[in-house]
Amino acid sequence: MSLNRSKFTEYKQTARNFWAGKPRFTEENYPSLDGKTFLITGGHSGVGLESTKLLISKGAKVVIVGRSKDKAQEVLAELPSQQYEFVEANLADLTTIKAAGEYIQNNYPELQGVILNAGVMIPPYSKTPQGHELQWGTNVVGHHALMKYLGPILIHTAKSSPKNSVRVIWVSSSATVVSPYEGGINFDDINLDKVDSPNDHILYSQSKIGNAYQAYLWSKHHPGSGVVSVSVDPGNLRSNLQRHGNGVLFYVLDYFLYPAKFGAYTELSALLNTEVRDTDHLIPWGQVGHLRNDVDYCRRGDKGEALWQQLDSDVKDFVAKL
Ligand SMILES: NC(=O)c1ccc[n+]([C@@H]2O[C@H](COP(=O)([O-])OP(=O)(O)OC[C@H]3O[C@@H](n4cnc5c(N)ncnc54)[C@H](OP(=O)(O)O)[C@@H]3O)[C@@H](O)[C@H]2O)c1
Repeated sequence: MSLNRSKFTEYKQTARNFWAGKPRFTEENYPSLDGKTFLITGGHSGVGLESTKLLISKGAKVVIVGRSKDKAQEVLAELPSQQYEFVEANLADLTTIKAAGEYIQNNYPELQGVILNAGVMIPPYSKTPQGHELQWGTNVVGHHALMKYLGPILIHTAKSSPKNSVRVIWVSSSATVVSPYEGGINFDDINLDKVDSPNDHILYSQSKIGNAYQAYLWSKHHPGSGVVSVSVDPGNLRSNLQRHGNGVLFYVLDYFLYPAKFGAYTELSALLNTEVRDTDHLIPWGQVGHLRNDVDYCRRGDKGEALWQQLDSDVKDFVAKL
């Protein structure tokens, strides 16, 4: 079977993650962030923690959204207490989003940027209390709900900020190549309920494709917002994400993983590099890359729009009317 050019280009980009070269946009290039506030979901572990530390090192305050402050205590003890706040929300349970969202709105009228970084990969198959497959529910639906609160703050901040400086980053993955579905998502059966033995890697891939749809669709649904919405594949990184992985594949893969800080370089390129534009998709370590052709095509068309409506309907009973 011969690969057509676009498929070949996709696989080439995926392979590049194993030899991604030297990061070019790092702390040496960041401006002072004194007086600025950013929010990172999962900013206390792996890539998110490295992003938190880098932002703090430049003077910023970081609001970390995570599901358990107690569980994060050991990590948080290393951060300067006046430069972060931990707000509890479980992205896998929509009933926890409203309190967190309202707290953030009441206490942080301005946010210069949000990194939707939290995620779960290939856990044993289960569903959230709202009936979403866990990876889709956490990575996609939970973030969709939270953005109902964070979006207005970003839009408000953008009004008095330099052009293109206020941003929302949706953390996707190179695993987007895995899903076999046209457009990347099994739109008629997102939970794969009708599939015998649903494949956890496909479910992860589908959720990370969902994040790339969200980056485009958030921008489309907030025209003229002044907020730059970007998706990123942070790279192949050593973190807690692989905790559900086992077998030879993960054993071998471990040798090829980069330190989590490199993933933070990708995230912070999306957040701070002035060359980045709305709806760009960044690859390691902050280069502009491309999405799967079918994913990029479908997110711009009817399928993307239907997904947005579906997500709005999934979260509407759990977020205040905004
Ligand atoms: N590592 C890689 O090679 C790689 C590659 C491509 C993409 N990514 C993406 O990069 C992002 C960061 O992952 P990572 O590698 O840094 O993994 P990680 O160390 O496991 O961090 C993931 C974070 O997400 C949080 N989280 C998980 N479920 C949550 C929930 N229900 N509610 C709130 N927070 C939740 C975790 O919190 P707990 O501490 O409570 O579990 C943790 O803080 C993810 O979106 C991942 O898909 C990673």
